[in-house]
Amino acid sequence: MSNGVVNAAYIIAAILFILSLGGLSDQEKARRGNVYGMLGMGIAILATLFGPGVQSYWVLMLMVLIGGSIGANLARKVEMTAMPQLVAMLHSFVGLAAVLIGFSSALSINMGLDPSHALSGTARTIHDVETYLGIIIGAITFTGSLIAYGKLTGKLSSSPLSLPARHWLNAGGAVICVLLAVSFIGESHSLFALTLATLIAFAIGAHLVMSIGGADMPVVISMLNSYSGWAAAATGFMLNNDLLIVTGALVGSSGAILSYIMCRAMNRSFISVILGGFGATSTTLGSVDDTPQGEAIAILADATAQLLSQAKSVVIVPGYGMAVAHAQHPVSSMANKLRDKGIKVRFAIHPVAGRMPGHMNVLLAEAKVPYDIVLEMDEINEDLPDTDVVLVIGANDIVNPAALEVPDSPIAGMPVLEVWNAKHVIVSKRSMATGYAGVENPLFFRDNTRMLFGDAKDSIEAVLSAIG
Ligand code: TAP
Repeated sequence: MSNGVVNAAYIIAAILFILSLGGLSDQEKARRGNVYGMLGMGIAILATLFGPGVQSYWVLMLMVLIGGSIGANLARKVEMTAMPQLVAMLHSFVGLAAVLIGFSSALSINMGLDPSHALSGTARTIHDVETYLGIIIGAITFTGSLIAYGKLTGKLSSSPLSLPARHWLNAGGAVICVLLAVSFIGESHSLFALTLATLIAFAIGAHLVMSIGGADMPVVISMLNSYSGWAAAATGFMLNNDLLIVTGALVGSSGAILSYIMCRAMNRSFISVILGGFGATSTTLGSVDDTPQGEAIAILADATAQLLSQAKSVVIVPGYGMAVAHAQHPVSSMANKLRDKGIKVRFAIHPVAGRMPGHMNVLLAEAKVPYDIVLEMDEINEDLPDTDVVLVIGANDIVNPAALEVPDSPIAGMPVLEVWNAKHVIVSKRSMATGYAGVENPLFFRDNTRMLFGDAKDSIEAVLSAIG
């Protein structure tokens, strides 16, 4: 395949990636967006494989087969709730790939292994800067993602590591990396400096994510997504690969925007999170308030069905527990049954409900809940005072009034679904246990709240049969 054809294929792939991102911003077009993304990636891989400079086809095919089968197998088996840790693991591969490609290029040029790529003067300096940046960002992404994976799978403690003078450690590491850059990019092209800087970047990546508490982990994942994009873009510059530059920039910027949106939804400071909890106080680091706040009143499935059937308007708030219980299908059937009775039923989605962006939207779409009755938090909050019954299914932090009412709560300031303003609130969960942030929820003790105890799937199935 000639260079011209490869470039044309790269342009088509880049356009498909942009269309893919555009599609993913809207539930109705998300499926099409995914297809565009897959097509773009297919074209990119084929153009690279059959482009100039590729020789070892058998080795490549074997690697694609092995890697592809492991990936497909993992993706087929992974639970929706374990998706964030899978994504973290995949980011670590991008980081490691950037480090390995950077070292291979640096070694090959330093040792003159490939005379066709001999560089000198400004061209060499620019190439060294690209190599150095790709390796450093890749190294931070690699270890940061591994730590995020460990925290999300529970293999590492989710509480933040708070070493004395931890910000000075990060800042010191960054300064040494800059000094070593001078040595690598300068006359000596010191591979020792590059290796030392890589080791320091590995330590910075691990330490940055170790210092971040569990409640900020979703932001960390999307931030590492962004880093992996920038590492890929730097590698693209190093390899003179335009598609890698465009794709890396798309991933880098969309990841950064998503991190920012999530920080706003969780009332976290973006700068504080990306700097490893810089400026965080004990409150924002997830201290636990477990003082019991009163007595909760239980309700049974029959009485829940009665309340729902008598309501004119019902809002359903799904959360992480609905995902764990796989309750989305009975929830969807219940919504249909209530709608058949002429009741106005809507779903309220908090931006960080569940464990990953869009988690609830995916589950509801899978259970064929119509898109037009699924509303965002900002769209529905003002309707809640006029709602007869809010049914909270396996959600906790996202409906916690302490976020607005208790200034020293670990989730203070986080925008929440103000479900307590409705006439009746029914909360389906198994116990009085806290949610992800480990904070007691005063909603459960309000006069208009009733607790429907039990696994969400069993409870909703019981309500469904009681509705008749
Ligand atoms: P959580 O606050 O985690 O609460 C989930 C509740 O579900 C728990 O209190 C649990 O109570 C209940 N539950 C668990 N299994 C259940 C089952 N089988 N049946 C019924 N209930 C069950 O969830 P949320 O309200 O969705 O809030 C999300 C939290 O996760 C936020 O703090 C957010 O910051 C954080 N987070 C979000 C993301 C993203 S991007 N969405 C990623 C990581 C973390 P019981 O044990 O009593 O049943």
